[in-house]
Amino acid sequence: MKFFVDTADVEAIAELNDLGMVDGVTTNPSLILKSGRDIIEVTREICSIVSGPVSAEVVALNAEDMIAEGRKLAEIAPNIAVKVPLTWDGLKTCKVLSGEGKMVNVTLCFSANQALLAAKAGATFISPFIGRLDDINLDGLELIGDIRQVYDNYGFETQILAASIRTANHVTQCALIGADVMTAPPSVIKAMASHVLTDKGLDQFMKDWAKTGQKIL
Ligand code: G3P
Repeated sequence: MKFFVDTADVEAIAELNDLGMVDGVTTNPSLILKSGRDIIEVTREICSIVSGPVSAEVVALNAEDMIAEGRKLAEIAPNIAVKVPLTWDGLKTCKVLSGEGKMVNVTLCFSANQALLAAKAGATFISPFIGRLDDINLDGLELIGDIRQVYDNYGFETQILAASIRTANHVTQCALIGADVMTAPPSVIKAMASHVLTDKGLDQFMKDWAKTGQKIL
């Protein structure tokens, strides 16, 4: 399973990248706002750190302007994946930009039908949002399973990029279902290292070690 980091926080990306935890990065307009940085500048800096796909999102709503924005974003670096919303204009944009050999990430996906359309439009990645479905009492993980089955039934090569991941358990479940990629905030990736029995066991080891009176260094 590939790990993308869902942030435009350059320091957090660099820290995880040094540990080999970063296969790519996803950003969106909300994350750019949170970073307080210029989209072109921060995206360029991220691309200088990470060699895998870095998603940068268009903000126009009509296909003509989305295509122009996508081309501009793609000029930032060869590893840019142009992120477009799952609207009819977004699908048109996906078809054009993927036809030009650009990576396209179709985002804001909430149904298997939407994922099917994105695959037919040549999407490199489809981004189903798990957490936001859970927020309205629908089953985000069930959607990942449905898309996995639909894509496998027909051999679509579009990669399932599980997004809106809020918990470490979401990551486990996505890996079990067979999502190709997951994108999560740095806090969730770090939370994956935590286990109450690890903390408890380490605490006991430290207490016992102190009683030995020994030192390693
Ligand atoms: O990758 C999409 C992600 O940023 C959305 O997450 O938590 O805002 O639903 P969230």
